[in-house]
Amino acid sequence: MTVKITLPHDNSYEIFIDELNEIYFDRKVVIVTNPTVSGFHLDYLKSKLNAKELSVCIIPDGEEYKHMQTIEDILAHCFTQRLDRKSLLVAFGGGVIGDMTGFAASIYQRGIDFVQIPTTLLSQVDASVGGKTGINNKFGKNLIGAFHQPIAVYIDPSMLKTLPKREFGAGVAEIVKMAVTFNKDFFEWLEQNDLNDEKNIRIAIAKSVQTKADVVSQDEKELGIRAALNYGHTFGHVIENETNYNTYLHGEAVGIGMCMANALAVKIGLMSKDEELRVKNLLEKYDIPTTYKIKDVEDFYEHFFLDKKSLDNKIKFILPIGLGDCKITNEITKNDVIQILKGF
Ligand SMILES: NC(=O)c1ccc[n+]([C@@H]2O[C@H](COP(=O)([O-])OP(=O)(O)OC[C@H]3O[C@@H](n4cnc5c(N)ncnc54)[C@H](O)[C@@H]3O)[C@@H](O)[C@H]2O)c1
Ligand SMILES: [Zn+2]
Repeated sequence: MTVKITLPHDNSYEIFIDELNEIYFDRKVVIVTNPTVSGFHLDYLKSKLNAKELSVCIIPDGEEYKHMQTIEDILAHCFTQRLDRKSLLVAFGGGVIGDMTGFAASIYQRGIDFVQIPTTLLSQVDASVGGKTGINNKFGKNLIGAFHQPIAVYIDPSMLKTLPKREFGAGVAEIVKMAVTFNKDFFEWLEQNDLNDEKNIRIAIAKSVQTKADVVSQDEKELGIRAALNYGHTFGHVIENETNYNTYLHGEAVGIGMCMANALAVKIGLMSKDEELRVKNLLEKYDIPTTYKIKDVEDFYEHFFLDKKSLDNKIKFILPIGLGDCKITNEITKNDVIQILKGF
């Protein structure tokens, strides 16, 4: 299956969801990956990918390496290999590899092309599509970066066979996010079908990618509707931060965050109790956490203001309206938020 993402300024591209076919690039190519992904899948990729000249840049595995020094290392590899402005980077890994490779591509000699070959469920359904690239620094996550669209995305669901179960669940959380915010039929389909089945996961990837592509096509730079993809993230980022990024995977924190957003939506009458429970049940089916012990509710609330999306001192919440629709609002009172947090 192929999904097209339509963008201005020649930035449109296609997302191929299928087993990898032969790909040929008549230019110098660098594959950026890490030891985990290369151990499992690099030979397979190399058997499919042909280039004028090919080299592999291996960077360490982990979010803790998603910083400027690693970008320098990728750029150093590119200079050593004498890449020119027509050369191409291939991001081969999860969202960490995708975000860093995209960012390196956006600045190498003022910007070269890159393609995404995502290998985690989270990156296949979310991170590889849409052109957000970046790194972390001591001031926070993803605070440095660029919008730089890939020229193509190749999603091969067979690569998920080696993915640990928790990582799979983290990806499912982002799938649930797309369904709750934009597509009720998809949500009901998710309730009725098991994503551990290979046929079903392909369908779910395609649906999620289609949803994300539609949203990004309408709002590439997140000036409006694209912000809805941050459903669950306002709360989730605080949870990740409070737990020093070492307790929950991003998708797991988003799972809890969606439950918090839902509780708020129920409180102000946007969602029914029954709908709230349906989302919770769906998440729990994949062992995604749905509760979190908040130590200090006031402290948790203050944490919202560290998020780059609330720099104007107003917290932006994405709240579901029933199932399949949502609204973006910064008009929620502190009192309402504190009350739902106390209930967790
Ligand atoms: N750009 C965006 O729009 C966007 C969206 C969401 C998340 N992100 C970013 O993505 C990152 C999270 O991505 P992630 O969840 O993919 O994490 P990740 O890239 O850290 O991958 C998770 C783990 O799985 C391993 N792995 C990857 N593919 C595998 C496979 N096929 N088999 C076995 N192991 C495999 C990785 O090496 C890693 O250890 C975060 O940095 C987040 O900020 C970006
Ligand atoms: Zn996310």
